[in-house]
Amino acid sequence: MHGVHSPLVYNLIKDVIYNKNLKSPWFTSIEKMRNAFNNDYTLIDSIDYGAASKYKSTHKTIRKICSTTSKSKKYSQLLFRLIKWHNPKYALELGTSLGISAMYQATGLSENAKLITIEGHEAVALKAKHVIKELNFNSIEVIVGNFDKELPKVLNNVPQLDWVFFDGNHKKEPTLRYFTQCLEKASNNALFIFDDINWSDEMREAWIEIKNHPKAYLTIDLFFVGLVLVNKREQKEHFTILF
Ligand SMILES: C[S@@+](CC[C@H](N)C(=O)[O-])C[C@H]1O[C@@H](n2cnc3c(N)ncnc32)[C@H](O)[C@@H]1O
Repeated sequence: MHGVHSPLVYNLIKDVIYNKNLKSPWFTSIEKMRNAFNNDYTLIDSIDYGAASKYKSTHKTIRKICSTTSKSKKYSQLLFRLIKWHNPKYALELGTSLGISAMYQATGLSENAKLITIEGHEAVALKAKHVIKELNFNSIEVIVGNFDKELPKVLNNVPQLDWVFFDGNHKKEPTLRYFTQCLEKASNNALFIFDDINWSDEMREAWIEIKNHPKAYLTIDLFFVGLVLVNKREQKEHFTILF
């Protein structure tokens, strides 16, 4: 943290990013769901929902889907701390999978806030809907469909976006396209979080363009995840933090 002179960033790092003591009693119930998924050998049918991307679903067990797509406990808890700190009213997630990260985010939301999450794989989304209902996370709405088709509809319907977690279709063009689309509805100081910014050359290139965007006034690179506070400001700041 040496060399961090901005009080906002200093506090964000100290009180939120590194504050691993900040927890919720809900973590236990969500982790029980993760454990159940990790012991579920049900095969999910191959469904090609027609993504414009090269995304293809394959026959996989729920166990495999959970272990390969759901955010780990460490990053799920980070999402919880960030959303609690940021306190958005309208939150969006691209990529629900089994709903693990959606539930962690919902745990940090205030009473009247809402999280919309979009998932293209219908059978996976149904599983997510089921556990979300079972744990009574009424603030989460799961939308089933391709981001390319569903995102414009969501953007038409929400008054603003205060938070977006981009966690699906990790390719450069769609990532930048979704970013630009979401910017149009972004509220002042909206927080956008990009997963897997170092996952591939394409994602590294996308992250560089996102960082250079005139509206990305504060960016924090946590290696696996990139945080972006958006709005037009004269000064841009970028930090790389070990997490
Ligand atoms: C990494 S997983 C999401 C994990 C989830 N956020 C979690 O941590 O619990 C990404 C998801 O995005 C979905 N996805 C990828 N491309 C998509 C697209 N173009 N439209 C809709 N869903 C898509 C995949 O089906 C996959 O379930």
